[in-house]
Amino acid sequence: MAKEKTLFFCTECGAETPKWAGRCASCGAWNTIAEAPKEKRVKAAGTAVVRNRDTVGPVSLKGIDAHEEARMSTGMEELDRVLGGGIVDGSLVLASGDPGIGKSTLLLQMARNLASRGIKVLYVSGEESLSQIKLRALRIGECSDDLLFMAETDMSEIHEQALAIRPKVMIVDSVQTMVLPEVESAPGNMTQVRENTSFLMRFAKTENIAVFLVGHVTKEGNVAGPKMLEHMVDTVLYFEGDTTTTYRILRAVKNRFGSTNEIGVFEMSGTGLAEVTNPSEHMLRGMPESEPGSVVAVTMEGTRPILVEVQALISKTSFNLPRRTAAGTDFNRMNLLLAVLEKRVGASLSGCDAYLNVAGGLRVTEPALDLPILLAVLSGYRNQPLPDHTVAFGEVGLTGELRAVSQALARVREAAKLGYRTCVLAEADREKIGKDAPKGIKLIGLRNIREIPKDLSFS
Ligand code: TYD
Ligand code: MG
Repeated sequence: MAKEKTLFFCTECGAETPKWAGRCASCGAWNTIAEAPKEKRVKAAGTAVVRNRDTVGPVSLKGIDAHEEARMSTGMEELDRVLGGGIVDGSLVLASGDPGIGKSTLLLQMARNLASRGIKVLYVSGEESLSQIKLRALRIGECSDDLLFMAETDMSEIHEQALAIRPKVMIVDSVQTMVLPEVESAPGNMTQVRENTSFLMRFAKTENIAVFLVGHVTKEGNVAGPKMLEHMVDTVLYFEGDTTTTYRILRAVKNRFGSTNEIGVFEMSGTGLAEVTNPSEHMLRGMPESEPGSVVAVTMEGTRPILVEVQALISKTSFNLPRRTAAGTDFNRMNLLLAVLEKRVGASLSGCDAYLNVAGGLRVTEPALDLPILLAVLSGYRNQPLPDHTVAFGEVGLTGELRAVSQALARVREAAKLGYRTCVLAEADREKIGKDAPKGIKLIGLRNIREIPKDLSFS
């Protein structure tokens, strides 16, 4: 008799092991190894490979007919951008995020927009009853009859109905509530989630129906269950932001059909999610004027420059070890920049607490934020505001040198468009921009942070 090999798997990352262990060797999580259910011992783990029926064996690139994938607009520019230009036929998209962040609302709005153009959409909810869905839909507005709703958790029933209705787009809310009857485990259990996802992947590809799957997130911030779901689907959209504020940022963490840098910005309103087409304006809303410790930075999110405010509070420490925190950016990077400042400019920051914050709810980790962080800290430390209408960007090296960053011209243009009159940047970027500089904004190029004037006047 053939020996059975894989009997256990990690419920967190899906790694399989022949023996039980207290800690997963692959992802390091504790207490996540579970015995695979019986039927799994026979069948290989669900994989979502779909064969292309018209190819036999390997072919060269020339032998493959490729057509631009057909895309449908979702009727929301912010969502289209994150998807890489619209919904691709037959794709499987996972939408994840904290509970209450707006996943169901966004997908319902998308479904409504599609249906209003005569595209058939099936919205399956395993979480809410039909009357609850109706109440939500009424807040958003009238829906056309091409949008059909179904409250169901049995995947075989959903499959049957979908084949009868033949929608162009199907929404499944959420993967954790769905049950495949042939899999013997409770809904939300790793095996169920995995088999349901792989079932939907095959369904999407064979029927050429785009499927949007909602996935909840665990308190550690993983798509519940696991990284493994992310490997199985074509696109992973992640909703960031705080349910206590009204702004929501949608990011593509993975996208087989587009770039992963683009973000979409939305605002939760009384009638659903509204698109924010000018994110810089909202990021800077409520910003103080001429206050020490506040600097406007220009950051790039994909192809879009966004202005954000960087704030630093520097105060004398009353502990042996100064307190430091960084919200909305990288903590280690901040510590490194404080050390560079101390060494190269002679600011004695080792006796100071430093609190750094990127206001507006965006998380920025790109190096172009180095100079703004440094200026905010200096301005807070010297209690000296920067001149009005000043922005900054640039990477700072360990010797205090300023380095060029990507898309300097796009950043300067955005700042000029929003009425900023001075831009502090790396000299290398200033030279590169040269004559293309937009009118009305003065560019101040620095080679090293030692060139920052003592009074931060930049005139
Ligand atoms: P929801 O889409 O149900 O979140 P998820 O599916 O991610 O769990 O969003 C629910 C929240 O959004 C809820 O707290 C109420 C709020 N909301 C509004 O503020 N305005 C609206 O028009 C709608 C539909 C919801
Ligand atoms: Mg929901």
